[in-house]
Amino acid sequence: MSAKLLRPVAIAGTGKYLPEKVLTNADLQRMVETTDEWIVERTGIKERRIAAPDEATSDLAIKAGRDALENAGIKAEDLDLIIVATVTPDMAFPATACFVQKALGAPKATCLDVSAACSGFLYGLELARQSIASGSAEKALVIGADKLSAIIDWTDRNTCILFGDGAGAAVLTPAGEGTGEILSAYSGSNGNLDEILHVPGGGSRHPLTAENIGSKANTMKMSGREVYRHAVQTMISAAKEAIARAGLTSDDIECFIPHQANLRIIETIADKLDLPMERFFVNLESYGNTSAAAVAIALDEAQRSGRIKRGDHILMVVFGGGLTWASSVVRW
Ligand code: UT7
Repeated sequence: MSAKLLRPVAIAGTGKYLPEKVLTNADLQRMVETTDEWIVERTGIKERRIAAPDEATSDLAIKAGRDALENAGIKAEDLDLIIVATVTPDMAFPATACFVQKALGAPKATCLDVSAACSGFLYGLELARQSIASGSAEKALVIGADKLSAIIDWTDRNTCILFGDGAGAAVLTPAGEGTGEILSAYSGSNGNLDEILHVPGGGSRHPLTAENIGSKANTMKMSGREVYRHAVQTMISAAKEAIARAGLTSDDIECFIPHQANLRIIETIADKLDLPMERFFVNLESYGNTSAAAVAIALDEAQRSGRIKRGDHILMVVFGGGLTWASSVVRW
């Protein structure tokens, strides 16, 4: 997907929310046959956050959204568009974005969810950018939020060690003097590889019945090695594409913010792009893979910690179930 823009668009502010409860590798050692050493060596993850039983995805999204609005200095009532990227919506409908609208008080906003697994935040960012660029919206809130703990099989060591809950958000406005600009976006999907990462049950194909709940059809299934291979190849080509579309080279990018799934995936990408790891922002040791929230949380932490500064070029690149992928270059 690519298009000519009628006006440039900027990220005016970012935010995040992580639930309080920390689940460490030592905790997981008591739940499945695994070790802290194995998890750290194979993934880089040390701990992750888990939402409280009464905390739904919208509760995470609302807090991240509020944080981003405050950071941008924009009022919820001025929003024209709220997009929540999630694969763990509060319920089949209304959209999680409608719950965010209700809590924030954004009566003017059109609200919708995007389902693109770990790629959802960048899919949402591009939809919002196009809406603002075309003039159909002035101010948009894009949130990546997932409560993956609700769809994890906590007896499956292949998956349960990888994921965590959280939310990250960005506010988009037309670019102006003194703002940055989203310079490029690229995305793609491959529905032929649906089965290597999916939750087969709980939708209209296999509605929840006592039988398929017993067989855990409502939890995530993943062919880890296959996903790993596609993640590396696809994120490398997606990164190159977004950089080329921005008219830049990888040397111009001060900060790479990749999907936070596995440190070895990020190290391989750095190696293949011939870039030092210092150029990559990594926080997966603290949060694991938070799906649609991961790159949004990382963007927020990178900007608030001073890792990215006004005028820097940053590249975000994501990959997830579908398969789906996306990338974007932003001048901060
Ligand atoms: O957002 C996109 C979503 N997902 C991803 O990006 C994940 C991509 N995949 C991965 O990150 C990696 O493939 C994993 C971390 C999931 C697995 O790492 P791996 O190096 O590919 O391990 P493997 O699946 O090839 O398994 C190696 C061994 C196996 O034992 P055998 O068959 O060699 O005896 C597994 O059973 O490690 C075993 N294993 C574990 N051992 C201890 C798998 N999970 C665990 C575990 N603790 N948690």
